[in-house]
Amino acid sequence: MQLISVVVLDLPQLYQKPSGTELVRALALLSLQPRTFGTTADVAKGPAVQPAGVTRYLTSIIASSLAWLETDELREAIWDAAGARLSERSGRAAMPAMSRMFNVPTASGEEYSLTLHEPSITADNLGMKTWVSSYLLSRRLHSLESPAALGQTATSSTSPRKPLRALELGAGTGLVGLAFAALRGHSATVHLTDLPEIVPNLAHNAALNVELLGTTGATVTTGTLDWSVDPSPLPTEEERFDLILAADPLYSPNHPKWLVNTIQPWLSHGLGARVVTEMPLRDAYLPQVKEFRQRMGELGLVVVEEGEEIGYDDWESADGGALEVKCWWSIWGWSEKV
Ligand SMILES: C[S@@+](CC[C@H](N)C(=O)[O-])C[C@H]1O[C@@H](n2cnc3c(N)ncnc32)[C@H](O)[C@@H]1O
Repeated sequence: MQLISVVVLDLPQLYQKPSGTELVRALALLSLQPRTFGTTADVAKGPAVQPAGVTRYLTSIIASSLAWLETDELREAIWDAAGARLSERSGRAAMPAMSRMFNVPTASGEEYSLTLHEPSITADNLGMKTWVSSYLLSRRLHSLESPAALGQTATSSTSPRKPLRALELGAGTGLVGLAFAALRGHSATVHLTDLPEIVPNLAHNAALNVELLGTTGATVTTGTLDWSVDPSPLPTEEERFDLILAADPLYSPNHPKWLVNTIQPWLSHGLGARVVTEMPLRDAYLPQVKEFRQRMGELGLVVVEEGEEIGYDDWESADGGALEVKCWWSIWGWSEKV
């Protein structure tokens, strides 16, 4: 079959203020299909787009306000699709459904094994897969096991300590929250959250690990928490969380604002409250990471500890080698009592 090949300049250009439909169509054209083993792999659904300039094209869509489009929903859908196309190009492509085992080190040098189901990514649902920063964060969680690391000092000498209340935002397949729950056992309750379409698999993964979680005495719940929706009514101090966890949460221009706006009402005002994050420092998302830092500072949070580490994506580069990813981890606390 003869394929027609188009170049980026054939696609609708932002200076022309293309309609939403034109942009959606162009982004669909840029979708990377998973490799197949069949003989029909060369049968493409549409014209192939030559790769030169595609990343820049996608980044410019993400960075644009798309102000000429009529609705926020349309803008959001286009940013999401552009983010997904970019992700596919950094290897976040559709993969078949699978269950994988992850080993999480404990403070005593043992390891806990968690099994996580990852449905294939059929839409732009990045939460159906486990990402590298989540893996790295799960492996450093044991260093947060001591109460002091999480700032739990208040009232400890006079009253029995209440279980720590932890919340995971954008939990995806749940690796970080489930690992934290297993490590903390009965000394913490962990609520794993994500968008409504992700929560069923998240709940499934909590159920898959019920044996381990039961042995350690962990309490895990799952539910929807959409960062773009303000909580109503606002949570009381009792309902807020001592610890908020988030791995790889920034991949669209709205995410820094939404994430910090979600941390604000849900993080306990106690001085011991902490936010623990880890995220990849991929070029396309560096502006979001910078904005996240800035917004956290404006909220009154400061970095207590931070660092960078190298991880590897769980797919291969074009030449078959491992793809190195630099990730940034950070622990945040209030700069003063709010
Ligand atoms: C790249 S995935 C990371 C998933 C998981 N933390 C990991 O590292 O494996 C980003 C996650 O953020 C979630 N997310 C995106 N936008 C969100 C929103 N508005 N509210 C809540 N979660 C959101 C996605 O559904 C997805 O699970």
